[in-house]
Amino acid sequence: MNNKTVLVTGGAGYIGSHACVELLEGGFNVVVVDNLCNSKIESLSRVRQITGKPLTFYQADIGDKAALAEIFAQEPISTVMHFAGLKAVGESCEKPALYYHNNVCGTLTLAEAMAEANVKQLVFSSSATVYGESESPQYKENFPLGAINPYGRSKVMIEDIFRDLSAADSLNQTESPWKVALLRYFNPIGAHQSGLIGEDPNGIPNNLMPYVSQVAIGKLAQLSVFGDDYPTPDGTGIRDYIHVVDLVKGHIKALAALESPAFAQGGCKAYNLGTGQGYSVLEIIRAFERVCGHPINYKIAPRRAGDLAECFANPELALQALGWKAEKNLDDMVADAWNWQTKNPQGYL
Ligand SMILES: NC(=O)c1ccc[n+]([C@@H]2O[C@H](COP(=O)([O-])OP(=O)(O)OC[C@H]3O[C@@H](n4cnc5c(N)ncnc54)[C@H](O)[C@@H]3O)[C@@H](O)[C@H]2O)c1
Repeated sequence: MNNKTVLVTGGAGYIGSHACVELLEGGFNVVVVDNLCNSKIESLSRVRQITGKPLTFYQADIGDKAALAEIFAQEPISTVMHFAGLKAVGESCEKPALYYHNNVCGTLTLAEAMAEANVKQLVFSSSATVYGESESPQYKENFPLGAINPYGRSKVMIEDIFRDLSAADSLNQTESPWKVALLRYFNPIGAHQSGLIGEDPNGIPNNLMPYVSQVAIGKLAQLSVFGDDYPTPDGTGIRDYIHVVDLVKGHIKALAALESPAFAQGGCKAYNLGTGQGYSVLEIIRAFERVCGHPINYKIAPRRAGDLAECFANPELALQALGWKAEKNLDDMVADAWNWQTKNPQGYL
């Protein structure tokens, strides 16, 4: 048990709500700030229900400096887990200014409020989309960055901001330097085992797993599989899927690392959070059919621009530096996603 207080931005969202559960169960105090633009407050009631513990919620935008200053003044925050952001790649191509404003300007405001409150420890939700083209489909942290859409570029920009803040602290030999873990997620799926919290997208889902779930339950008619002529064993795209509970456990490990001697002089380091194992779209569909017990209606559609044939993590650095490794397998991920979907066919009400 410990008495540390963690500010969770975007804590009402899919990954943030799972992080709140893990933090509360680890004995942390949790303060959530979320503007609820893409989530419902019910998720936080469910977090309280799962853990039997209280948490504090502020409905505010991370771009609202005065609101953040007030939160830092009220709460004894030692670390920030920063999940707040917009995440739909397609929407980011249609509304790039919205994405840069919300994600980049919002994070810059958060960083300023943190520095003013002298809270300079942060775990950030980055993404595998920061990586550029590479020879190998198994991405390592030192591979070149080169996102190909505004969403991914907003993540690269945020990473750059924290790398620069950290470098400036080292140049100026600042007494309490920035300590930042940039966690590059691969494809988080699944839900908490209780089925009380899970992914609840607004409207038509952008990601494969909630889409398959909604087809399986009859809410959507048919899944489109984009491309079956990739140079992969079954022709469909291969991705690294990671159970959301494994993912948030990686955040707790990252938080511990920031407080360890490895970060005594400050620093900003990136870690891949993935399983290291890729699955094709058809493998995901078959796994889902096994769990839900009936066929998934899908059709093959043309490839989407920008999609890679294959992309999965090299998760070695997270194992060595954070002592973290994913433990759940594909069947666990699919079973938990289906459990959430069947218990909450309309999402949070
Ligand atoms: N889910 C994924 O596949 C995935 C993959 C890689 C990275 N990420 C990143 O992880 C983070 C969390 O993703 P998620 O899947 O939980 O998304 P989500 O949309 O469920 O959660 C994000 C939360 O942030 C809140 N939010 C957005 N902008 C805000 C603002 N300006 N001020 C306050 N709150 C704001 C939303 O209301 C929502 O509750 C995001 O930064 C996302 O880019 C997600």
